[in-house]
Amino acid sequence: MITLEGIDALRRQIQRWRKADDSIALVPTMGNLHPGHLKLVEVAMEMADRVVVSIFVNPMQFGEGEDFAAYPRTMEEDASSLISLGTDLLFAPAVSDVYPASSDSQTRVEVPEISDIFCGTSRPGHFVGVATVVCKLFNMVQPDIAVFGEKDFQQLMVIRRMTEDLSFPIRIHGVPTVREEDGLARSSRNGYLTTGERARAPAIYRLLRQTADKVRAGDTNYERLETQAQKSLKAEGFTPDYFRVVRARDLAEPSRDDTELVILAAAYLGKARLIDNITLTS
Ligand code: PAF
Repeated sequence: MITLEGIDALRRQIQRWRKADDSIALVPTMGNLHPGHLKLVEVAMEMADRVVVSIFVNPMQFGEGEDFAAYPRTMEEDASSLISLGTDLLFAPAVSDVYPASSDSQTRVEVPEISDIFCGTSRPGHFVGVATVVCKLFNMVQPDIAVFGEKDFQQLMVIRRMTEDLSFPIRIHGVPTVREEDGLARSSRNGYLTTGERARAPAIYRLLRQTADKVRAGDTNYERLETQAQKSLKAEGFTPDYFRVVRARDLAEPSRDDTELVILAAAYLGKARLIDNITLTS
């Protein structure tokens, strides 16, 4: 595996692959790789001749008081996992390479509307940070395909919209969430959970499934279902942020005719902010 930190060296390597007519997939990550990330890399390897994985803990997507400083950085372990999978290139740029300008004068990419709801409400500026860094990574790597996890459902929508709006010739591929045996979605933030919290954490997915079953059975009183789920989350010791049944296409209030729905959940458990979702087609 080639490991590069500099953008010029990355571009030279990409050019070599382009000359050989190789297709390129990018898997953007913030590191601390778990089986969910490794699945993204495996999928990327099936889709392209060359796979680039980026590891960059992006300061722009963390708000004040969030876990930027504490975010787990495990570069050595990550590199060995990527080598075992047969990854072609690990790109791990420094903050000063990605953001040469001071944070106030840095150009930003904003995907309106979809960035301002759900996680965007609780984490103002988060999706501007995500869209900006992904846009920059797209310009640096110029991949044919980029692979992201479906656990971050809203993030995937923001990235799809940004890719389309800015005319990037890149196919965005979403990969289903990888879960622990008890249903908890794999996430770097699961590492913040204490033993007791970890035992309660699967409740979020359990409630998503229970709510999905009720919707499938014909219950359209979404507001009541949402309130019930939030109450159950509180009883399990969570502080719910949101639990909503929405239209999958645009995360808007669903009407009776909508057949593609998604149930989105976000809740704090101790120091961890957990998110998860379930999609429903009727
Ligand atoms: O999902 C993540 O890990 C990050 O938000 C991403 C897409 C790598 C951008 O920093």
